[in-house]
Amino acid sequence: MPSITVRNLNNSVKQALRERAARNGRSMEEEARLLLAAAEVPAPKHIVSFDDASSSRSATSMNTEAGGKKILLIIGGGIAAYKCLDLIRRLKERGISARVVMTNAAKEFVTPLSIEALNHDKVFANLFDREAEHDIGHIRLSREADLIVVAPATADLMAKMANGHADDLASTVLMATDKPILVAPAMNPRMWSHPATRRNRKTLERDGVLLVGPAVGEMAESGESGKGRMAEPYEIIRSIENLLDTSPKPLAGMRAIVTSGPTHEPIDPVRYIANRSSGKQGHAIAEALGRAGAEVILVSGPVNLPDPSHVETIHVETAREMQQMVETALPAKIAVMVAAVADWRSTDEADEKIKKDGGKGPTSLKLTENPDILKGLGHHENRPDLLIGFAAETENIEEHAKTKLERKKADWILANDVSADFGVMGGNQNSIKLLSASGVETWPQMSKEDVAKRLVDRIANHFDWTTTSI
Ligand code: CTP
Repeated sequence: MPSITVRNLNNSVKQALRERAARNGRSMEEEARLLLAAAEVPAPKHIVSFDDASSSRSATSMNTEAGGKKILLIIGGGIAAYKCLDLIRRLKERGISARVVMTNAAKEFVTPLSIEALNHDKVFANLFDREAEHDIGHIRLSREADLIVVAPATADLMAKMANGHADDLASTVLMATDKPILVAPAMNPRMWSHPATRRNRKTLERDGVLLVGPAVGEMAESGESGKGRMAEPYEIIRSIENLLDTSPKPLAGMRAIVTSGPTHEPIDPVRYIANRSSGKQGHAIAEALGRAGAEVILVSGPVNLPDPSHVETIHVETAREMQQMVETALPAKIAVMVAAVADWRSTDEADEKIKKDGGKGPTSLKLTENPDILKGLGHHENRPDLLIGFAAETENIEEHAKTKLERKKADWILANDVSADFGVMGGNQNSIKLLSASGVETWPQMSKEDVAKRLVDRIANHFDWTTTSI
């Protein structure tokens, strides 16, 4: 294979490679390797399928880490079955092939014809279909996939799985498989909270079955809402990609500490000082670091987000607790301080609720400054090798961020304009300027997940830089 040394490339080529790698969620090294491999051997344009007899599939793959893998999708009989059309489309976009089994009840909600038209493959539904058994057989069906996904998983299907029933093709395949199983439950909230479903769910979890969702929301039946909605296809896809993840792990062997979310500083037992941070950016960065192979400790303030996968999450409330947990997690190679730590706390936290004290007017709060966690790390004897902070600014962004870079002894500061009209705090988008000793880099507006991927890619390159020649 031909070889190049990344650091010998000229700056514009390096920049193009960096952007291309960031777009594809890879390290520069990995991107270059793939380009070199493609230069030597023309990339095959063949289509992902279970076997050669299988039909033509779209070649418009997004070429993700999970691309080329095979899913067996079992569609259960619930109204959410229609979402499987979108799920199949997204799988195809990622180069993940799906073979589909439908229960009899599922066919009442979506037709096999529509699935076949979209998936360009036969749908399997009947355990006693002689032709299908001859072609594939339910044992092969259950063993050839890398992962089995049940969506929607109805209360009935979950009950069958938990109790080992095998009276139709779907349940038989689920009994016969030796592959991981991911289920996306979907049912009425009362059915979800019914003791029988709760028991079945526990049994399934004990058996190693993985769950995605259900979410809280409106049900298809008018006037009903609660927990039981099937996870959205993009969430199911995320779980699938996590489970099938065979991506390179450029940060393997490195420990990373991430802070995320706001802190809550109690005033009395019912009131606290806080801010609008949602934790979305910090959580996305923690997850992306974990996916890149780092051992991640996420120290999170109070947020309404699930704990990210590939990460150990420690929940705290106040700045002082956050600082203690961060310092306990040292030493670390990488630290990314994303939390919007409350700058002040009440000097005297009241043990009892502060009363309005009839007619005397509002009480006054005496405030004390909280410890600066980032600055503490910057000056710590166990300072992480790469220390990254954020700067939430509303004006003079570069100037303020540069001051923070120096004052807190960070290596990089990611400055964001929190007054931007797309709503950084609480929203899903961000626009970043990366400041370091070598200057300022302006990133276009992008999703917080993309910021996380790009940052992780930069981190991987930072550690590659001095040693990598390919
Ligand atoms: N930070 C921290 N501990 C604090 C305050 C901030 O670790 N007590 C970190 C944040 O996680 C972020 C960086 O310092 O990485 C900058 O936070 P920011 O809120 O922008 O700045 P402050 O230092 O609080 O300064 P100011 O509020 O005056 O802008």
